[in-house]
Amino acid sequence: MTAKLYLRTFGCQMNEYDSARIADVLAQSDGYRLAASPEEADLIVYNTCSVREKAQEKLFTELGRARRAKRARPEVLIAVGGCVASQEGEALLARAPFVDVVFGPQTLHRLPELLARRRASARPQVDVSFPEIEKFDRLPEPRVEGAAAFVSIMEGCSKYCSFCVVPYTRGREVFRRFEDVIAEVAALAARGVKEVTLLGQNVNAWRGTIDGEPADFAALLGYVAAIDGIARVRYTTSHPREFTGRLVRAHAELEALAPHVHLPVQSGSDRVLAAMKRGYTALEYRSIVRRLRRARPGIAVTTDFIVGFPGETDADFEATLALARDCAFDGAFAFVYSPRPGTPAAELPDPTPRAEKLARLARLNALVASQARAAAEAKVGTTERVLVEGRSKKRAEELAGRTGCNRVVNFPGDPSLVGRYVEVRITGAAPHSLRGEIVAAH
Ligand code: SAM
Ligand code: F3S
Repeated sequence: MTAKLYLRTFGCQMNEYDSARIADVLAQSDGYRLAASPEEADLIVYNTCSVREKAQEKLFTELGRARRAKRARPEVLIAVGGCVASQEGEALLARAPFVDVVFGPQTLHRLPELLARRRASARPQVDVSFPEIEKFDRLPEPRVEGAAAFVSIMEGCSKYCSFCVVPYTRGREVFRRFEDVIAEVAALAARGVKEVTLLGQNVNAWRGTIDGEPADFAALLGYVAAIDGIARVRYTTSHPREFTGRLVRAHAELEALAPHVHLPVQSGSDRVLAAMKRGYTALEYRSIVRRLRRARPGIAVTTDFIVGFPGETDADFEATLALARDCAFDGAFAFVYSPRPGTPAAELPDPTPRAEKLARLARLNALVASQARAAAEAKVGTTERVLVEGRSKKRAEELAGRTGCNRVVNFPGDPSLVGRYVEVRITGAAPHSLRGEIVAAH
């Protein structure tokens, strides 16, 4: 009988990517197939997020369900990976003694071994170490599902923003070798992939060696975009600190580079940016956005904000609103600051009442929503190149894909078009998606 795996993912795209690799590793080692619920699984894996307290607490709610499944069937194994696992390590076992394996973002390739050791020893296993970039050498070739794929080019982060747990949970920045990235993209292209998203916490920090010479992210993009069969390249997330002139120019020069950049700003106040240790000013950020729009007219810029960072005053928050107004973002994620244990910001005095922070968040969200609506409405009447990714989530008889600017668009069409590029005329704009009709297929 095939063993069944219930895999639940919390958090960012890096975790989504890691979860796909976890499923690959376990399919290869023990033939695990995905199960729809913990109740029908032999192995339950949670890939967790600790970037905000809320995300972290979700794990402990979910673990209750896993525990019940294990009570009913004691042979069920429970593994917890990702950032909560990395941060808690052994301590997680104290809070949830029924957990069998605790593994980190950099040790997911060791999961089969950890499970085997758990079975043999009847003792829980913990491995949340950071064995550099070994993970990629040990992973099976990624499974290809459809014509769009993610390719991780770096792991971890060395920026140490004062509010953020990532450098502690995912380790410091390490980059994949140029040859390995190119080989992976070429292998994906050979298997029908047309669109790749280069993935990492700060992809534009990437450094490597090309033909014996030092090379940066802009150079890497040029090589990836030139691979036969790759029609579109996206990347996420980038950081304003290393957003070089060369990278801006790449957006002007590389046709295949999608006209979208997700560039987290966090705040519009220089005082807060300095306290966050972001390493740029609001003026520098504005300048990047201006240069990008000049290099690639129509490029979509999205961002992240943190509202209510310790000591944020009304004037600081007004500066954030002003920056948002000026930059006219195509979309943004805004979060109320969540103190994370072990980060420097968690030690700062934070006198602003929560109600005030929530009021600020509501104002910022209202502004961002109106900008996103305006940007979506401006698309109506234009024709967009869209990779048909599958059936629409809303109406199964329709197809869905994303525009270059990364907006979901739904349109009527024949399922045989899945995996192909089509030209779609945009006919309508809803808050989170566009509607359209196909005018040509490639
Ligand atoms: N690498 C990205 C960058 O350049 O900033 C950010 C990665 S972080 C995992 C994703 C987002 O979570 C951040 O952009 C930030 O807005 C938010 N975030 C991180 N730590 C947070 C905290 N302590 N409280 C609230 N939001 C937080
Ligand atoms: Fe976190 Fe700042 Fe890195 S937000 S992921 S420490 S760039």
